[in-house]
Amino acid sequence: MDKFYLTTAIDYVNGKPHIGHAYEKILADVIFRHYTQRIENCYFLTGTDEHGIKIQKTAEGRNITAKELCDENSQSFKSSWKELGIEYSDFIRTTDERHKQTVQKIFKKLVENGDIYKNQYKGLYCSGCESFLNARDLTEEGLCPNHLKKPEEVTEENYFFRLTKYKDAIIEHIKLNPEFILPSFKVNEVLKQLEEIEDISVSRNRNSVSWGIAVPDDNEQVIYVWIDALSNYITALGYDTENPSEKFMKYWPANVQVIGKDILKFHAIYWSAILLALGLELPKTICAHGWITIDNSKMSKSIGNVISPIDILKFFDLENADALRYYMVTSAPFGRDGNYSDVDFKEKVNADLANNIGNLLNRTLNMLVKYFDGEIKSEFIKNDTDIEKAVTETVVKYKKFFDEYQVSEAANVIVDLANTVNKYVAENAPWTLAKEGNMTKCGEVLYNVLEASRKIAILLYPYCPNISKAIFQQLSTDINIKFSDIDKKLFSGKITDKNKIKPVFPRIDSEFATDKKKEKN
Ligand code: ME8
Ligand code: MG
Repeated sequence: MDKFYLTTAIDYVNGKPHIGHAYEKILADVIFRHYTQRIENCYFLTGTDEHGIKIQKTAEGRNITAKELCDENSQSFKSSWKELGIEYSDFIRTTDERHKQTVQKIFKKLVENGDIYKNQYKGLYCSGCESFLNARDLTEEGLCPNHLKKPEEVTEENYFFRLTKYKDAIIEHIKLNPEFILPSFKVNEVLKQLEEIEDISVSRNRNSVSWGIAVPDDNEQVIYVWIDALSNYITALGYDTENPSEKFMKYWPANVQVIGKDILKFHAIYWSAILLALGLELPKTICAHGWITIDNSKMSKSIGNVISPIDILKFFDLENADALRYYMVTSAPFGRDGNYSDVDFKEKVNADLANNIGNLLNRTLNMLVKYFDGEIKSEFIKNDTDIEKAVTETVVKYKKFFDEYQVSEAANVIVDLANTVNKYVAENAPWTLAKEGNMTKCGEVLYNVLEASRKIAILLYPYCPNISKAIFQQLSTDINIKFSDIDKKLFSGKITDKNKIKPVFPRIDSEFATDKKKEKN
Protein backbone atom coordinates (compact mmCIF):
# COMPACT_ATOMS: atom_id res chain seq x y z
CA MET A 1 0.00 0.00 0.00
CA ASP A 2 1.61 3.29 -1.04
CA LYS A 3 -1.12 5.74 -0.02
CA PHE A 4 -4.05 5.83 2.32
CA TYR A 5 -7.20 7.87 1.72
CA LEU A 6 -9.86 7.91 4.42
CA THR A 7 -13.19 9.74 4.46
CA THR A 8 -16.03 10.15 6.95
CA ALA A 9 -19.68 10.99 6.43
CA ILE A 10 -20.24 14.72 6.16
CA ASP A 11 -22.55 15.91 8.93
CA TYR A 12 -25.76 17.85 8.50
CA VAL A 13 -25.40 21.35 9.86
CA ASN A 14 -28.96 21.79 11.06
CA GLY A 15 -27.62 21.35 14.58
CA LYS A 16 -24.44 21.24 16.64
CA PRO A 17 -22.17 18.19 16.82
CA HIS A 18 -23.21 15.52 19.31
CA ILE A 19 -21.33 12.48 20.53
CA GLY A 20 -22.73 10.30 17.73
CA HIS A 21 -21.00 12.56 15.23
CA ALA A 22 -17.95 12.66 17.47
CA TYR A 23 -17.82 8.87 17.71
CA GLU A 24 -17.49 8.56 13.96
CA LYS A 25 -14.85 11.24 13.61
CA ILE A 26 -12.80 9.84 16.50
CA LEU A 27 -13.03 6.35 15.02
CA ALA A 28 -11.83 7.74 11.70
CA ASP A 29 -9.04 9.72 13.33
CA VAL A 30 -7.81 6.66 15.25
CA ILE A 31 -7.70 4.61 12.05
CA PHE A 32 -6.01 7.46 10.24
CA ARG A 33 -3.35 8.04 12.88
CA HIS A 34 -2.53 4.34 12.88
CA TYR A 35 -1.97 4.41 9.12
CA THR A 36 0.21 7.50 9.39
CA GLN A 37 2.44 5.37 11.62
CA ARG A 38 2.82 2.91 8.76
CA ILE A 39 2.47 4.79 5.47
CA GLU A 40 3.95 7.98 4.10
CA ASN A 41 1.08 9.40 2.00
CA CYS A 42 -2.09 9.62 4.04
CA TYR A 43 -5.08 11.87 3.46
CA PHE A 44 -8.10 12.35 5.72
CA LEU A 45 -11.24 14.08 4.51
CA THR A 46 -14.21 15.17 6.57
CA GLY A 47 -16.69 18.01 6.27
CA THR A 48 -20.28 19.18 6.44
CA ASP A 49 -23.41 18.54 4.38
CA GLU A 50 -25.12 21.88 4.04
CA HIS A 51 -27.94 21.79 1.52
CA GLY A 52 -31.54 20.64 1.68
CA ILE A 53 -34.92 21.19 3.17
CA LYS A 54 -33.99 20.48 6.80
CA ILE A 55 -31.36 23.20 6.82
CA GLN A 56 -33.61 25.59 4.93
CA LYS A 57 -36.38 25.03 7.49
CA THR A 58 -34.13 25.25 10.55
CA ALA A 59 -32.78 28.56 9.26
CA GLU A 60 -36.29 29.87 8.58
CA GLY A 61 -37.28 28.88 12.11
CA ARG A 62 -34.39 30.90 13.52
CA ASN A 63 -34.95 33.83 11.22
CA ILE A 64 -31.51 33.69 9.69
CA THR A 65 -30.39 32.82 6.19
CA ALA A 66 -29.46 29.26 5.33
CA LYS A 67 -25.92 30.43 4.63
CA GLU A 68 -25.67 32.01 8.09
CA LEU A 69 -26.85 28.81 9.72
CA CYS A 70 -24.33 26.77 7.73
CA ASP A 71 -21.44 29.09 8.57
CA GLU A 72 -22.26 29.02 12.25
CA ASN A 73 -22.72 25.27 12.61
CA SER A 74 -19.98 24.25 10.24
CA GLN A 75 -17.61 26.29 12.40
CA SER A 76 -18.92 24.55 15.46
CA PHE A 77 -18.11 21.15 13.92
CA LYS A 78 -14.63 22.34 13.02
CA SER A 79 -13.83 23.67 16.46
CA SER A 80 -15.19 20.54 18.16
CA TRP A 81 -13.00 18.35 15.99
CA LYS A 82 -10.02 20.47 16.93
CA GLU A 83 -10.71 19.95 20.64
CA LEU A 84 -11.09 16.22 20.07
CA GLY A 85 -7.69 16.03 18.39
CA ILE A 86 -9.10 15.12 15.00
CA GLU A 87 -6.38 15.96 12.54
CA TYR A 88 -8.06 15.92 9.16
CA SER A 89 -6.23 16.91 5.98
CA ASP A 90 -9.16 18.73 4.43
CA PHE A 91 -12.62 19.86 5.51
CA ILE A 92 -15.13 20.16 2.71
CA ARG A 93 -18.38 22.06 2.89
CA THR A 94 -20.95 21.27 0.22
CA THR A 95 -21.51 25.01 -0.10
CA ASP A 96 -17.86 25.46 -1.20
CA GLU A 97 -17.58 26.83 -4.73
CA ARG A 98 -15.15 24.01 -5.64
CA HIS A 99 -17.80 21.48 -4.69
CA LYS A 100 -20.80 23.15 -6.34
CA GLN A 101 -19.09 23.53 -9.69
CA THR A 102 -17.91 19.94 -9.86
CA VAL A 103 -21.29 18.57 -8.78
CA GLN A 104 -22.87 20.40 -11.71
CA LYS A 105 -20.30 18.90 -14.05
CA ILE A 106 -20.97 15.45 -12.65
CA PHE A 107 -24.72 15.92 -13.09
CA LYS A 108 -24.21 17.07 -16.67
CA LYS A 109 -22.03 14.11 -17.51
CA LEU A 110 -24.60 11.70 -16.08
CA VAL A 111 -27.31 13.36 -18.23
CA GLU A 112 -25.11 13.10 -21.31
CA ASN A 113 -24.47 9.41 -20.66
CA GLY A 114 -28.19 8.71 -20.35
CA ASP A 115 -27.91 7.88 -16.64
CA ILE A 116 -30.20 10.72 -15.64
CA TYR A 117 -33.66 11.24 -17.13
CA LYS A 118 -36.79 13.24 -16.33
CA ASN A 119 -39.94 11.63 -15.01
CA GLN A 120 -43.13 12.14 -12.99
CA TYR A 121 -42.67 11.26 -9.39
CA LYS A 122 -45.41 10.47 -6.90
CA GLY A 123 -44.22 9.71 -3.46
CA LEU A 124 -44.33 10.00 0.29
CA TYR A 125 -41.73 12.53 1.29
CA CYS A 126 -40.31 12.91 4.79
CA SER A 127 -38.63 16.27 5.29
CA GLY A 128 -36.74 14.90 8.29
CA CYS A 129 -35.13 12.16 6.19
CA GLU A 130 -35.00 14.38 3.14
CA SER A 131 -36.14 11.46 1.12
CA PHE A 132 -39.10 9.67 -0.30
CA LEU A 133 -40.16 6.72 1.82
CA ASN A 134 -41.59 3.42 0.71
CA ALA A 135 -45.09 2.67 2.00
CA ARG A 136 -43.77 -0.58 3.48
CA ASP A 137 -41.21 1.26 5.59
CA LEU A 138 -43.79 3.36 7.46
CA THR A 139 -44.99 2.56 10.97
CA GLU A 140 -48.41 1.00 11.46
CA GLU A 141 -49.78 4.51 11.92
CA GLY A 142 -48.32 5.55 8.56
CA LEU A 143 -45.51 7.63 10.09
CA CYS A 144 -41.85 7.93 9.17
CA PRO A 145 -40.10 5.35 11.39
CA ASN A 146 -37.23 7.74 12.11
CA HIS A 147 -39.08 10.96 12.78
CA LEU A 148 -42.52 9.67 13.77
CA LYS A 149 -44.02 12.28 11.48
CA LYS A 150 -46.57 11.80 8.72
CA PRO A 151 -44.83 12.08 5.35
CA GLU A 152 -46.26 14.46 2.73
CA GLU A 153 -47.69 13.15 -0.50
CA VAL A 154 -45.75 14.79 -3.28
CA THR A 155 -46.09 14.64 -7.05
CA GLU A 156 -43.52 16.40 -9.16
CA GLU A 157 -41.46 16.28 -12.26
CA ASN A 158 -37.97 15.24 -11.16
CA TYR A 159 -34.73 14.02 -12.59
CA PHE A 160 -34.07 10.37 -11.95
CA PHE A 161 -30.82 8.47 -11.75
CA ARG A 162 -30.79 5.07 -13.44
CA LEU A 163 -29.71 3.11 -10.38
CA THR A 164 -31.18 -0.15 -11.66
CA LYS A 165 -28.74 -0.18 -14.57
CA TYR A 166 -25.89 -0.83 -12.10
CA LYS A 167 -27.60 -3.38 -9.89
CA ASP A 168 -25.90 -6.46 -11.32
CA ALA A 169 -22.47 -4.86 -11.43
CA ILE A 170 -22.73 -3.86 -7.77
CA ILE A 171 -23.91 -7.30 -6.69
CA GLU A 172 -20.97 -8.83 -8.51
CA HIS A 173 -18.54 -6.36 -6.98
CA ILE A 174 -19.78 -7.14 -3.48
CA LYS A 175 -19.47 -10.86 -4.07
CA LEU A 176 -15.98 -10.63 -5.54
CA ASN A 177 -14.64 -8.25 -2.88
CA PRO A 178 -15.23 -9.50 0.65
CA GLU A 179 -13.51 -6.42 2.09
CA PHE A 180 -15.82 -3.99 0.25
CA ILE A 181 -18.42 -3.86 3.02
CA LEU A 182 -17.22 -4.20 6.60
CA PRO A 183 -18.17 -5.52 9.07
CA SER A 184 -19.07 -8.48 6.88
CA PHE A 185 -22.24 -9.23 8.83
CA LYS A 186 -23.67 -6.19 6.98
CA VAL A 187 -23.22 -7.69 3.52
CA ASN A 188 -26.47 -9.64 3.36
CA GLU A 189 -28.49 -6.62 4.39
CA VAL A 190 -27.08 -4.69 1.42
CA LEU A 191 -27.61 -7.56 -1.01
CA LYS A 192 -31.24 -7.71 0.10
CA GLN A 193 -31.66 -3.96 -0.41
CA LEU A 194 -30.15 -4.34 -3.88
CA GLU A 195 -32.84 -6.83 -4.87
CA GLU A 196 -35.46 -4.17 -4.24
CA ILE A 197 -33.88 -1.05 -5.68
CA GLU A 198 -35.55 1.31 -8.12
CA ASP A 199 -34.26 4.35 -9.95
CA ILE A 200 -33.96 7.29 -7.56
CA SER A 201 -35.09 10.87 -7.73
CA VAL A 202 -32.04 13.14 -7.67
CA SER A 203 -33.62 16.58 -7.96
CA ARG A 204 -36.49 18.56 -6.51
CA ASN A 205 -38.58 21.40 -7.80
CA ARG A 206 -37.19 24.77 -6.72
CA ASN A 207 -40.57 25.55 -5.10
CA SER A 208 -40.18 22.72 -2.60
CA VAL A 209 -36.43 23.00 -2.01
CA SER A 210 -34.55 26.13 -2.92
CA TRP A 211 -31.40 25.67 -0.80
CA GLY A 212 -29.30 23.52 -3.09
CA ILE A 213 -27.15 23.35 -6.19
CA ALA A 214 -29.02 24.22 -9.39
CA VAL A 215 -29.48 21.51 -11.99
CA PRO A 216 -27.38 22.63 -14.96
CA ASP A 217 -29.52 24.04 -17.79
CA ASP A 218 -32.77 23.76 -15.82
CA ASN A 219 -33.60 26.59 -13.47
CA GLU A 220 -36.73 24.91 -12.14
CA GLN A 221 -34.82 22.08 -10.48
CA VAL A 222 -32.34 21.79 -7.64
CA ILE A 223 -30.00 18.80 -7.18
CA TYR A 224 -31.04 17.12 -4.02
CA VAL A 225 -29.24 15.10 -1.41
CA TRP A 226 -27.29 12.16 -2.69
CA ILE A 227 -25.50 13.31 -5.85
CA ASP A 228 -24.58 16.48 -4.00
CA ALA A 229 -23.56 14.88 -0.69
CA LEU A 230 -21.78 11.74 -1.91
CA SER A 231 -19.72 13.55 -4.53
CA ASN A 232 -17.83 15.37 -1.77
CA TYR A 233 -15.46 12.43 -1.52
CA ILE A 234 -14.09 13.21 -4.97
CA THR A 235 -14.78 16.93 -5.40
CA ALA A 236 -12.56 17.62 -2.37
CA LEU A 237 -9.66 15.90 -4.12
CA GLY A 238 -10.15 18.05 -7.20
CA TYR A 239 -11.98 15.52 -9.34
CA ASP A 240 -13.12 16.90 -12.65
CA THR A 241 -15.05 15.13 -15.39
CA GLU A 242 -12.46 16.30 -17.92
CA ASN A 243 -9.26 17.07 -16.05
CA PRO A 244 -8.98 15.35 -12.69
CA SER A 245 -6.32 16.84 -10.43
CA GLU A 246 -3.07 15.16 -9.48
CA LYS A 247 -4.35 14.78 -5.95
CA PHE A 248 -7.36 12.90 -7.23
CA MET A 249 -5.20 10.61 -9.33
CA LYS A 250 -2.97 9.98 -6.34
CA TYR A 251 -5.60 9.25 -3.70
CA TRP A 252 -8.69 7.87 -5.40
CA PRO A 253 -10.05 5.21 -4.82
CA ALA A 254 -10.51 5.70 -1.09
CA ASN A 255 -9.02 2.99 1.10
CA VAL A 256 -11.79 3.33 3.63
CA GLN A 257 -14.98 5.34 3.88
CA VAL A 258 -16.18 5.45 7.48
CA ILE A 259 -19.94 5.96 7.88
CA GLY A 260 -22.82 5.06 10.19
CA LYS A 261 -24.96 2.01 9.59
CA ASP A 262 -28.02 4.17 8.77
CA ILE A 263 -26.39 5.41 5.58
CA LEU A 264 -24.72 2.19 4.45
CA LYS A 265 -27.32 1.68 1.72
CA PHE A 266 -26.56 5.08 0.21
CA HIS A 267 -22.85 4.38 0.19
CA ALA A 268 -22.76 0.74 -0.82
CA ILE A 269 -25.45 1.14 -3.50
CA TYR A 270 -26.08 4.76 -4.60
CA TRP A 271 -22.47 5.86 -4.35
CA SER A 272 -21.20 2.73 -6.11
CA ALA A 273 -23.65 3.33 -8.96
CA ILE A 274 -22.61 6.97 -9.34
CA LEU A 275 -18.94 5.96 -9.45
CA LEU A 276 -19.61 3.24 -12.01
CA ALA A 277 -21.59 5.73 -14.11
CA LEU A 278 -18.61 8.11 -14.00
CA GLY A 279 -16.25 5.28 -14.92
CA LEU A 280 -14.41 5.53 -11.59
CA GLU A 281 -13.12 2.84 -9.28
CA LEU A 282 -15.11 1.91 -6.19
CA PRO A 283 -13.64 2.49 -2.73
CA LYS A 284 -11.71 -0.45 -1.30
CA THR A 285 -13.80 -0.56 1.87
CA ILE A 286 -16.96 0.99 3.21
CA CYS A 287 -16.88 0.67 6.94
CA ALA A 288 -20.22 0.95 8.73
CA HIS A 289 -20.12 1.69 12.44
CA GLY A 290 -22.93 1.22 14.92
CA TRP A 291 -25.07 3.66 16.78
CA ILE A 292 -24.23 5.45 20.05
CA THR A 293 -26.94 5.68 22.67
CA ILE A 294 -26.95 7.72 25.89
CA ASP A 295 -27.57 5.82 29.09
CA ASN A 296 -28.96 3.14 26.82
CA SER A 297 -31.59 5.25 25.10
CA LYS A 298 -31.63 6.83 21.68
CA MET A 299 -30.29 10.37 21.56
CA SER A 300 -32.96 12.80 20.50
CA LYS A 301 -33.84 16.43 20.85
CA SER A 302 -37.33 15.59 22.09
CA ILE A 303 -35.98 13.39 24.93
CA GLY A 304 -33.47 16.17 25.63
CA ASN A 305 -30.51 13.82 26.04
CA VAL A 306 -28.35 15.04 23.19
CA ILE A 307 -24.80 15.31 24.56
CA SER A 308 -22.05 17.45 23.17
CA PRO A 309 -18.58 15.89 23.30
CA ILE A 310 -17.15 19.22 24.45
CA ASP A 311 -19.51 19.30 27.44
CA ILE A 312 -18.11 15.95 28.55
CA LEU A 313 -14.56 17.35 28.46
CA LYS A 314 -15.68 20.35 30.50
CA PHE A 315 -17.71 18.31 32.94
CA PHE A 316 -14.75 16.11 33.85
CA ASP A 317 -12.33 19.01 33.59
CA LEU A 318 -10.12 17.14 31.13
CA GLU A 319 -6.99 18.72 29.76
CA ASN A 320 -7.33 16.96 26.41
CA ALA A 321 -9.64 14.52 24.69
CA ASP A 322 -7.53 11.35 25.03
CA ALA A 323 -9.76 9.66 27.60
CA LEU A 324 -12.96 10.44 25.70
CA ARG A 325 -11.41 9.25 22.46
CA TYR A 326 -10.36 6.01 24.11
CA TYR A 327 -13.73 5.46 25.74
CA MET A 328 -15.78 6.25 22.66
CA VAL A 329 -13.98 3.90 20.29
CA THR A 330 -13.90 1.06 22.80
CA SER A 331 -17.57 1.44 23.70
CA ALA A 332 -18.62 -1.16 21.14
CA PRO A 333 -17.13 -4.00 19.10
CA PHE A 334 -16.70 -3.15 15.44
CA GLY A 335 -20.04 -2.37 13.77
CA ARG A 336 -22.13 -2.84 16.92
CA ASP A 337 -24.00 -0.19 18.88
CA GLY A 338 -22.26 1.46 21.81
CA ASN A 339 -23.39 3.52 24.74
CA TYR A 340 -22.20 6.57 26.62
CA SER A 341 -22.66 6.97 30.36
CA ASP A 342 -20.70 9.23 32.74
CA VAL A 343 -20.19 6.45 35.28
CA ASP A 344 -19.03 3.97 32.70
CA PHE A 345 -16.68 6.49 31.14
CA LYS A 346 -14.99 7.21 34.44
CA GLU A 347 -14.65 3.54 35.35
CA LYS A 348 -13.29 2.49 31.99
CA VAL A 349 -10.63 5.17 31.64
CA ASN A 350 -9.59 4.90 35.28
CA ALA A 351 -9.15 1.15 34.92
CA ASP A 352 -7.35 1.07 31.57
CA LEU A 353 -5.55 4.39 31.26
CA ALA A 354 -4.90 5.47 34.84
CA ASN A 355 -4.35 2.09 36.53
CA ASN A 356 -3.32 -0.47 34.00
CA ILE A 357 -1.14 1.58 31.66
CA GLY A 358 -0.45 4.77 33.64
CA ASN A 359 0.27 3.32 37.05
CA LEU A 360 2.51 0.62 35.58
CA LEU A 361 4.79 3.28 34.15
CA ASN A 362 4.58 5.58 37.16
CA ARG A 363 5.51 3.06 39.82
CA THR A 364 8.27 1.59 37.68
CA LEU A 365 9.82 5.00 37.05
CA ASN A 366 9.66 5.73 40.77
CA MET A 367 11.49 2.47 41.50
CA LEU A 368 14.04 3.38 38.84
CA VAL A 369 14.80 6.57 40.74
CA LYS A 370 14.65 5.00 44.18
CA TYR A 371 16.85 1.98 43.48
CA PHE A 372 19.05 3.22 40.62
CA ASP A 373 18.96 6.99 40.84
CA GLY A 374 17.30 7.03 37.39
CA GLU A 375 19.87 4.96 35.55
CA ILE A 376 20.07 1.23 34.94
CA LYS A 377 23.62 0.28 34.05
CA SER A 378 24.05 -1.44 30.71
CA GLU A 379 25.21 -4.69 32.32
CA PHE A 380 21.71 -5.07 33.87
CA ILE A 381 19.99 -4.65 30.52
CA LYS A 382 18.76 -8.00 29.33
CA ASN A 383 15.60 -8.83 27.47
CA ASP A 384 12.98 -10.99 29.04
CA THR A 385 11.88 -13.55 26.47
CA ASP A 386 8.33 -13.86 27.83
CA ILE A 387 7.75 -10.12 27.58
CA GLU A 388 9.32 -10.09 24.14
CA LYS A 389 7.01 -12.86 23.01
CA ALA A 390 3.97 -11.11 24.45
CA VAL A 391 4.88 -7.95 22.54
CA THR A 392 5.38 -9.80 19.27
CA GLU A 393 2.04 -11.56 19.59
CA THR A 394 0.30 -8.32 20.49
CA VAL A 395 1.70 -6.52 17.47
CA VAL A 396 0.51 -9.24 15.09
CA LYS A 397 -3.02 -9.19 16.49
CA TYR A 398 -3.15 -5.41 16.70
CA LYS A 399 -2.08 -4.94 13.09
CA LYS A 400 -4.56 -7.52 11.86
CA PHE A 401 -7.37 -5.79 13.73
CA PHE A 402 -6.45 -2.44 12.22
CA ASP A 403 -6.28 -3.97 8.76
CA GLU A 404 -9.93 -4.93 9.29
CA TYR A 405 -10.72 -1.58 10.97
CA GLN A 406 -11.49 -3.31 14.26
CA VAL A 407 -10.45 -0.37 16.37
CA SER A 408 -12.07 -1.48 19.59
CA GLU A 409 -10.57 -4.96 19.33
CA ALA A 410 -7.11 -3.51 18.68
CA ALA A 411 -7.40 -1.44 21.87
CA ASN A 412 -8.19 -4.55 23.86
CA VAL A 413 -4.89 -6.16 22.94
CA ILE A 414 -2.99 -3.13 24.27
CA VAL A 415 -4.76 -3.58 27.59
CA ASP A 416 -3.98 -7.30 27.50
CA LEU A 417 -0.30 -6.53 26.97
CA ALA A 418 -0.28 -4.05 29.86
CA ASN A 419 -1.94 -6.72 32.00
CA THR A 420 0.79 -9.19 31.10
CA VAL A 421 3.47 -6.67 32.02
CA ASN A 422 1.73 -5.84 35.29
CA LYS A 423 1.68 -9.54 36.09
CA TYR A 424 5.39 -9.74 35.30
CA VAL A 425 6.01 -6.96 37.83
CA ALA A 426 3.91 -8.67 40.49
CA GLU A 427 5.58 -12.02 39.94
CA ASN A 428 9.12 -10.64 40.02
CA ALA A 429 8.47 -8.15 42.84
CA PRO A 430 11.37 -5.77 42.08
CA TRP A 431 10.88 -4.13 45.52
CA THR A 432 11.72 -7.47 47.15
CA LEU A 433 14.68 -7.97 44.81
CA ALA A 434 15.98 -4.54 45.84
CA LYS A 435 15.52 -5.30 49.52
CA GLU A 436 17.45 -8.55 49.06
CA GLY A 437 20.18 -6.67 47.22
CA ASN A 438 19.60 -8.56 43.95
CA MET A 439 20.19 -5.44 41.84
CA THR A 440 21.02 -7.31 38.63
CA LYS A 441 17.63 -8.95 38.48
CA CYS A 442 15.86 -5.86 39.81
CA GLY A 443 17.40 -3.69 37.08
CA GLU A 444 16.52 -6.24 34.47
CA VAL A 445 12.86 -6.27 35.52
CA LEU A 446 12.55 -2.48 35.56
CA TYR A 447 14.24 -2.22 32.19
CA ASN A 448 11.86 -4.71 30.59
CA VAL A 449 8.81 -2.96 31.99
CA LEU A 450 9.95 0.44 30.75
CA GLU A 451 10.90 -0.81 27.29
CA ALA A 452 7.47 -2.48 27.09
CA SER A 453 5.90 0.84 28.13
CA ARG A 454 7.64 2.53 25.22
CA LYS A 455 6.11 -0.04 22.90
CA ILE A 456 2.71 0.50 24.51
CA ALA A 457 3.10 4.23 23.79
CA ILE A 458 3.41 3.42 20.08
CA LEU A 459 0.32 1.21 20.15
CA LEU A 460 -1.65 3.73 22.19
CA TYR A 461 -0.76 6.69 20.00
CA PRO A 462 -3.77 6.53 17.60
CA TYR A 463 -6.18 6.56 20.54
CA CYS A 464 -4.42 8.79 23.02
CA PRO A 465 -1.79 10.89 21.27
CA ASN A 466 -1.16 13.08 24.34
CA ILE A 467 -0.69 10.21 26.78
CA SER A 468 1.53 8.51 24.25
CA LYS A 469 3.78 11.54 23.98
CA ALA A 470 3.90 11.92 27.76
CA ILE A 471 5.16 8.32 28.06
CA PHE A 472 8.00 9.01 25.62
CA GLN A 473 8.92 12.18 27.48
CA GLN A 474 9.04 10.51 30.86
CA LEU A 475 11.20 7.75 29.42
CA SER A 476 13.54 10.44 28.05
CA THR A 477 13.30 8.95 24.57
CA ASP A 478 12.44 10.74 21.35
CA ILE A 479 8.77 10.85 20.51
CA ASN A 480 9.01 8.05 18.01
CA ILE A 481 5.64 6.71 16.99
CA LYS A 482 6.68 4.84 13.86
CA PHE A 483 5.03 1.45 13.92
CA SER A 484 8.16 -0.35 12.76
CA ASP A 485 10.06 1.00 15.77
CA ILE A 486 8.17 -1.34 18.05
CA ASP A 487 10.71 -4.04 17.21
CA LYS A 488 13.64 -1.87 18.26
CA LYS A 489 15.03 -1.23 21.71
CA LEU A 490 15.05 2.51 22.11
CA PHE A 491 14.81 2.99 25.86
CA SER A 492 18.35 3.64 27.08
CA GLY A 493 17.77 2.60 30.67
CA LYS A 494 18.32 6.16 31.83
CA ILE A 495 15.96 9.02 32.45
CA THR A 496 17.29 12.54 32.32
CA ASP A 497 14.64 14.42 34.26
CA LYS A 498 13.43 12.82 37.47
CA ASN A 499 11.16 15.76 38.18
CA LYS A 500 9.08 14.94 35.13
CA ILE A 501 7.72 11.75 36.65
CA LYS A 502 3.99 12.09 37.21
CA PRO A 503 0.91 10.08 36.26
CA VAL A 504 0.42 10.26 32.47
CA PHE A 505 -3.30 10.05 33.05
CA PRO A 506 -4.49 11.20 36.48
CA ARG A 507 -7.46 9.21 37.74
CA ILE A 508 -10.79 10.91 37.29
CA ASP A 509 -11.84 11.40 40.87
CA SER A 510 -15.34 10.13 41.39
CA GLU A 511 -16.13 12.51 44.28
CA PHE A 512 -15.11 15.43 42.22
CA ALA A 513 -17.15 14.38 39.20
CA THR A 514 -20.22 13.77 41.32
CA ASP A 515 -19.84 17.15 43.03
CA LYS A 516 -19.61 18.85 39.70
CA LYS A 517 -22.70 17.12 38.50
CA LYS A 518 -24.56 18.30 41.60
CA GLU A 519 -23.46 21.84 40.92
CA LYS A 520 -24.71 21.52 37.37
CA ASN A 521 -28.18 20.30 38.35
O1 ME8 B 1 -26.41 11.30 7.48
N1 ME8 B 1 -24.32 7.30 16.80
O2 ME8 B 1 -25.64 13.33 8.24
P1 ME8 B 1 -25.91 13.16 9.80
C1 ME8 B 1 -23.38 7.03 15.87
N2 ME8 B 1 -25.31 14.23 5.84
N3 ME8 B 1 -23.29 7.69 14.71
C2 ME8 B 1 -24.17 8.65 14.47
C3 ME8 B 1 -25.19 9.00 15.40
C4 ME8 B 1 -25.24 8.26 16.63
N4 ME8 B 1 -26.14 8.48 17.57
N5 ME8 B 1 -25.92 10.00 14.87
C5 ME8 B 1 -25.38 10.28 13.65
C6 ME8 B 1 -25.95 12.41 7.28
N6 ME8 B 1 -24.34 9.46 13.42
C7 ME8 B 1 -25.57 12.84 5.88
C8 ME8 B 1 -24.37 12.01 5.43
S1 ME8 B 1 -22.45 11.41 3.70
C9 ME8 B 1 -22.15 11.74 2.09
C10 ME8 B 1 -23.90 12.31 4.06
C11 ME8 B 1 -23.50 9.40 12.20
O3 ME8 B 1 -25.47 14.44 10.40
C12 ME8 B 1 -24.31 8.97 10.99
O4 ME8 B 1 -24.43 7.58 10.95
O5 ME8 B 1 -27.30 12.70 10.06
C13 ME8 B 1 -23.48 9.53 9.86
O6 ME8 B 1 -22.48 8.63 9.47
C14 ME8 B 1 -22.86 10.80 10.47
O7 ME8 B 1 -23.02 10.69 11.89
C15 ME8 B 1 -23.56 12.06 10.00
O8 ME8 B 1 -24.93 11.98 10.27
MG1 MG C 1 -28.76 11.24 10.27
